[in-house]
Amino acid sequence: MTAPPLLAVEGLTKNFAGLRAVDGVSFAIADGTITGIIGPNGSGKSTTIDCISGFQRPDAGRVLLDGADITGRPADAIARAGLIRTFQAVRLYDQMSVRENLLQAARPFQQVGWVADFLRTAAMRRAVDAAEARAEELIAMIGLERYRDAPAVILSYGQKKLVALAAALMPRPRLVVLDEPVAGVNPTRIREIEEVILRLHAAGETFVIVEHNVEFIMRLCSRILVFVQGAKTMEGDPAAVQSDERVLEAYLGIRA
Ligand SMILES: Nc1ncnc2c1ncn2[C@@H]1O[C@H](COP(=O)(O)OP(=O)(O)O)[C@@H](O)[C@H]1O
Ligand SMILES: [Mg+2]
Repeated sequence: MTAPPLLAVEGLTKNFAGLRAVDGVSFAIADGTITGIIGPNGSGKSTTIDCISGFQRPDAGRVLLDGADITGRPADAIARAGLIRTFQAVRLYDQMSVRENLLQAARPFQQVGWVADFLRTAAMRRAVDAAEARAEELIAMIGLERYRDAPAVILSYGQKKLVALAAALMPRPRLVVLDEPVAGVNPTRIREIEEVILRLHAAGETFVIVEHNVEFIMRLCSRILVFVQGAKTMEGDPAAVQSDERVLEAYLGIRA
């Protein structure tokens, strides 16, 4: 018997007041892979990951994480089950330092209960120590040691994107879903974000990345899903997607 994929999406459908934003999308994500989702604006990429991560309720279809049905469960429950996502617009606490932002991201996952919290028990202390060690590890991985204690508000947009990525990794999720991690980021910083993702991937992390930057996706991903008008029109490795003229010309505006 083969193990179920880390994530299975079956017939996912989402309507907004008569508009079918996601139309029966199915795919599977294997553990330890990096999968890209590309497609024109409005093709349903964000809505798909909203439905998977519990930020929208699908109208039909199923989402299975490690074989367990998580369809329609609230976002915090899905996050605790091991699926964490980031947003197109960075969500950080401006006045908190980089380190505090990362510790804040770990807080909902320190399930030692309010009694332990109140009593400052050994279990609570261990959870806090583990989060602090993880924060230091991730700050080093994103190369922002110099900004460790600086308020997030002073960071460049690209640096904020790196902090948002690190924050997603704080609870050691099974699957990380990134919505446009390099949109609006300068080319040097794009390379840095790419290297961080590759380092995390080498350490065993699984990624699904929604991105407009096709070259970025081609470099990082072993498998790419192409969305058009709410549906998955094709799926393949970068070579297959790149050689599909239909995809390149009609959907991405690139000439083969
Ligand atoms: N909350 C919402 N309410 C109504 N329509 C929405 C909402 N979110 C997305 N849509 C619509 O659903 C379609 C898919 O949007 P989206 O998933 O954001 O596409 P993408 O991320 O591929 O650009 C678009 O037509 C968009 O306008
Ligand atoms: Mg989007």
